[in-house]
Amino acid sequence: MEAEQSGMSVGAQHAAPVGQNVDVAIMHIPRQKLAAAIVRKYRPEDRDAVRRICYDTGLMGHPIDPYFGCFELFADYWMNYYTDYEPESAFVAELGGRVIGYLVGCKDTSVQREMQGKAIMPQIRRKLFRFGYKVDRRFFAFMWRYVRTMWRREFVDEPINEYPAHLHMNLAEGYRSGGIGSKLLAAYLEYLRANGVKGLHLGTTSYNKLAVPFYKKWGFRLVSESPFTMYDGIVPEKITLLFFTREV
Ligand SMILES: CC(C)(COP(=O)(O)OP(=O)(O)OC[C@H]1O[C@@H](n2cnc3c(N)ncnc32)[C@H](O)[C@@H]1OP(=O)(O)O)[C@@H](O)C(=O)NCCC(=O)NCCS
Repeated sequence: MEAEQSGMSVGAQHAAPVGQNVDVAIMHIPRQKLAAAIVRKYRPEDRDAVRRICYDTGLMGHPIDPYFGCFELFADYWMNYYTDYEPESAFVAELGGRVIGYLVGCKDTSVQREMQGKAIMPQIRRKLFRFGYKVDRRFFAFMWRYVRTMWRREFVDEPINEYPAHLHMNLAEGYRSGGIGSKLLAAYLEYLRANGVKGLHLGTTSYNKLAVPFYKKWGFRLVSESPFTMYDGIVPEKITLLFFTREV
């Protein structure tokens, strides 16, 4: 399960392709109301909220549940490092007292990888093999897609040498395109600068229709683009896996 978060999915109970028209899903809330959102450092009591947003946006901004089926497992895999091992690098956006988005990251991807491999994955495997997660056929179908994508060598190496930091960010549906993502990213860049980090990278897909212009607007450079078939049959187009870098 090393795919970019937004790169995970598998066909199951969801009959129609997701996200046929991305714009339909956004701007439920007037832009002037979104402007009142604040960005602050992550706190332990935000843990459930960010995990929920992670799951509800896990399919390139859309809910992953129809294709994965186990909230705890997905959230453990994608969020445990950031919330439990490096929470100082995490930020949340809050509106009306509710967490509506997050940016989680790490200053050094090699540290994150080591913890993911040595601590988090063994815990997840143990829990899985002891039937601690409620998984159904969606999970197995997902894993099949994942393995197939691996066989096809579609998981590209991240550019971590000159750009050691990385991030994952997601806003709940209805809270997008109102400047909140920009506030989160500005806070993270300031934090990285204060910590002497020089470079940042991230992975996304060509199907993250808001994220791609968002990162370009923020000065990220596209450094690789390659075919990514994990979503075939779920989304109504061929997609590519993208990596972006940026000096801090
Ligand atoms: C990507 C995301 C974090 C951006 O945050 P946001 O609050 O929506 O973005 P902002 O309102 O700060 O917009 C900044 C820029 O992004 C681009 N952008 C934002 N919404 C856009 C839209 N609907 N259409 C085209 N470009 C858009 C624009 O360049 C915009 O600049 P502008 O306002 O001057 O036009 C957010 O949209 C999101 O969570 N999307 C779904 C999940 C996702 O794809 N996450 C990224 C995973 S890698």
